[in-house]
Amino acid sequence: MLFTETNLMKISHTLLLGILSFRTVHAATEEAKVDFATQVKPLLTSKCVNCHHAGALFGELNLENRAMAFKKRVNGPVILPGKPDSSALYMVLKMPPKNPKAMPPNGHRIADKDVNLIYDWIKQGAAWPKGADGVITLSKAVKE
Ligand code: HEC
Repeated sequence: MLFTETNLMKISHTLLLGILSFRTVHAATEEAKVDFATQVKPLLTSKCVNCHHAGALFGELNLENRAMAFKKRVNGPVILPGKPDSSALYMVLKMPPKNPKAMPPNGHRIADKDVNLIYDWIKQGAAWPKGADGVITLSKAVKE
C-alpha cells in the first residue's frame, strides 16, 4: 500500500473508529444493574401491559406479574434470563415495524435507550421481584 496522504487519512480514520467502537462496547459491559421497579416496570406499564393482561391476552402473554410473564407458552419463552437474543420480550422490540410481531404493534417504537434497558435487564438475569414491586397494574387511562 502506498502511504499517500489519503491512505494515511484512511488508516487514522479506521483507527479512530476502532477506538470509538471499542469504547462503546466497553461502556455497555459496565452498564449499571438495571432495577425492575424503577426502570423496567414503568416501561411495561406505559407501553405493554394494556394489551398483555388477564383481560387481553394478546400473544398468549400476560405481563402483570412475574409468574405470568415466565409462564410457558406455545410460542416459546418470553424471558430467558441471561439470553436477551432468545427472549421474545426483547426480540419483538428489535423487529422492524413492518413485522406483524414488532411491539408495540401500533407503530410507536420504543426508544433505543429503553430497548437497551430491556436487553441489559434480561442479560443481567431478568430479576423480577415477587412482592408489590413486581406487580404491574393497568394504567388508569385504559381501565376507564
Ligand atoms: C395494542 C396492543 C399491544 C401492545 C400495546 C403491545 N402488544 Fe405485544 N402483542 C400484541 C398482539 C396482538 C400480539 C400477538 C401478535 C402475533 O402473535 O402475531 C402480541 C404479542 C406479543 C409477544 C409474543 C410474540 C411471540 O413470539 O409470540 C410479545 C413478547 C409481546 N407482544 C411483547 C410486547 C411488549 C414488550 C410490548 C410493549 C413494548 C407490547 N407487546 C405491547 C398486542 C400488543
